[in-house]
Amino acid sequence: MNRYDIHTHILPNLDDGSSDIDISMVLLEELENQGVTHLAFTPHFYSQYIDMSGNNEKAENLLQHYFQSRMDALQAVRHEYHGNMRFTFGAEVHMSENIIHAKDLSPLCYYGTNHMLAEMPYSSVMAENEVMWLKTLIEQYHIIPILAHIERYPVLVTDMKLLSGLREMGCKVQVNTESLYTRGLSKRIIKLINEGCVDFLGSDTHSTMRGCDYERGYMEMVKHCHADMIDRITENGRKLFKV
Ligand SMILES: [Fe+2]
Repeated sequence: MNRYDIHTHILPNLDDGSSDIDISMVLLEELENQGVTHLAFTPHFYSQYIDMSGNNEKAENLLQHYFQSRMDALQAVRHEYHGNMRFTFGAEVHMSENIIHAKDLSPLCYYGTNHMLAEMPYSSVMAENEVMWLKTLIEQYHIIPILAHIERYPVLVTDMKLLSGLREMGCKVQVNTESLYTRGLSKRIIKLINEGCVDFLGSDTHSTMRGCDYERGYMEMVKHCHADMIDRITENGRKLFKV
């Protein structure tokens, strides 16, 4: 069965992930050996530092620089890589007030889709204004936010009413494969998958030491989760990669 990794920091020299093309190749080879068949490059994008309104020339240049660097890195990886994985790309977009004043968010979505990997601020408790950013993405920009690694936010894995509300609003949910075998967390994540509350898996690979563990988490899912829920996650991945 195909395995979709929708969250990685493997493109070289863009963020706190891979620092050069050789490391990128090691990470890709490792994930391919773990059975990943489709992989998305999602370098960090810090919206809190960039005025995205289109009215600020300096900020506009920064934005264009991000997109150009991402494209250059993608081309470098495609040139060096000779394996069988299929790639797509997007961004892990840190949510902030700036996001709801952006002129155009489509280049930050997964290529050719209206899905965006949305990272909430680190200490988020899903305050009213943060939920409003997501609502605005959905209603005004017609973008589907995929909430990145929800397990990082205690409130999202303990307050089921809140999580259900966000999903009903139109948000999707991604968990890191690492969480499927992390003590004190794995049971909750498995329960969420079995309740149909998880839509995507990602390794959030930054280096061989951080992430890069897709298979271990995936096998825990296979062992403990209902087949129809695994199929659903796989099907969501397939659609995101448009295959
Ligand atoms: Fe990430």
